[in-house]
Amino acid sequence: MPRTAVDRLAALLPPGFALGVATAAFQIEGAVDDDGRGPSGWDAFAHSPGVIAEGASADVADDHYHRLGEDLALLARLGVDAYRFSIAWPRVQPDGRGAWNEKGWAFYERLLDGLLEAGIRPLVTLYHWDTPLPLEKDGGWLSRGTAERFADYAAEAGRRLGDRVDQWITLNEPATVTLNGYALGLHAPGKQLLYEALPTVHHQLLAHGLAVQALRTTTDGGIGITNLHSPVSAKSWRPFDRLHAGLFDVIFNRLFADPVLLGHYPRVPWIAKRNFAPLLRAVRPGDLDLIGQPLDFYGLNYYFPVRIGAGAARTTDAPAGHHHHIAALKRLPFHLADFPEFRRTGFGWPIAPAHLGTLLAQMRDRYRNSLPPVLVTENGASFPEPESADGPIDDSERIDFLAAHLESALRSVAPGGPADGVQLAGWFVWTLLDNFEWAAGYTQRFGLVHVDFDTLERTPKASFEWLRQLAAARERTR
Ligand code: NOJ
Repeated sequence: MPRTAVDRLAALLPPGFALGVATAAFQIEGAVDDDGRGPSGWDAFAHSPGVIAEGASADVADDHYHRLGEDLALLARLGVDAYRFSIAWPRVQPDGRGAWNEKGWAFYERLLDGLLEAGIRPLVTLYHWDTPLPLEKDGGWLSRGTAERFADYAAEAGRRLGDRVDQWITLNEPATVTLNGYALGLHAPGKQLLYEALPTVHHQLLAHGLAVQALRTTTDGGIGITNLHSPVSAKSWRPFDRLHAGLFDVIFNRLFADPVLLGHYPRVPWIAKRNFAPLLRAVRPGDLDLIGQPLDFYGLNYYFPVRIGAGAARTTDAPAGHHHHIAALKRLPFHLADFPEFRRTGFGWPIAPAHLGTLLAQMRDRYRNSLPPVLVTENGASFPEPESADGPIDDSERIDFLAAHLESALRSVAPGGPADGVQLAGWFVWTLLDNFEWAAGYTQRFGLVHVDFDTLERTPKASFEWLRQLAAARERTR
């Protein structure tokens, strides 16, 4: 991207706006048996046959655990304001209850110290999907006890690291855990419970509420949660398409946001009312007060908009590589419809930057004064790239993607913009390094830095240089 375009974008960044990058422990660390780490539900899932593309596992991933110095140097060179990473719960508490693993905590202390030395603000996610296996075996998020275990872990994290962490994120995308993990079986723990997965909504939200309470007493850091959001539209004006789009919107965008921001669960369209009984059965008096405690910020991940049509998915609609899960998808009364008007990422996701602005406006309309400052905690795209980087990787599609999304977000919240009134406090690129992309294994590269998964060599892509220039240009314009 020409220098002037970078400067123009930099000029749109308000003072104090956090430019950052995000990662997650399970996707980059590897070293799954090192220094006393316990197994997670994701280790077990990834080792079961046929669930991950190309039969991959995250045993090595980016080997970030052993290459911390090198990766910190990349972050320092990038010059971002903030770095969002997650703590692997089974690394610091291998059984999910009881004894702490000192060597695990020491790793995160080294990471935090390295960031502070480089002048980078740490944002710590406590849960990015790697439930300790013993807890998963006891029911995982189907069990209320997991929320209580999580609160103990959050309190300990606050006590040990609170002096160095700027902001805490309790949970990452609990909706994805419920939907992909417990309802459809595409992610760990691989259960296909459909509506019977609903107790995992409440138990994760309760874990969030208990963790907020625990962190408030052990740290001064800012506290928030990260939810995945997608603006939802109906495939047509036909009543059944609209009804199902409304239902999907509730499940996807409101089920985890309304209780946190408004203190109550959303109203469910009549077509699915009866299906929500398992959720309501999990709620106990006082829970929603905990869940709805005030937050310092709201984290939002945005990747793509969704269009919904009535009627079950056909086999051809299944996401690539997931045809064996079509049994679960087919049991849903709606399907994800195509977006022929947009170009697509390597994952096949529609590229729709304007919808990030639409989403921010929707959040403002729905939550008004209850919406704290918003951080876009993830935004990014995968594109097909070579497995080994023999020369420079000119990922101009990623640069265009990132620049267009950041600009859309900034313009939408500007005075007079459609989302005027939302306090947008930062934007984080997903992600620093190519990594283990869950069920897609190593087939989807989202990184600003290319990783050769044979040699583990890191090669910054053109997009890395773009973000570096953006961060530097902003420094100059201040
Ligand atoms: C959201 C998840 O938080 C992250 O782990 C994942 O890699 C990205 N989406 C891309 O799918």
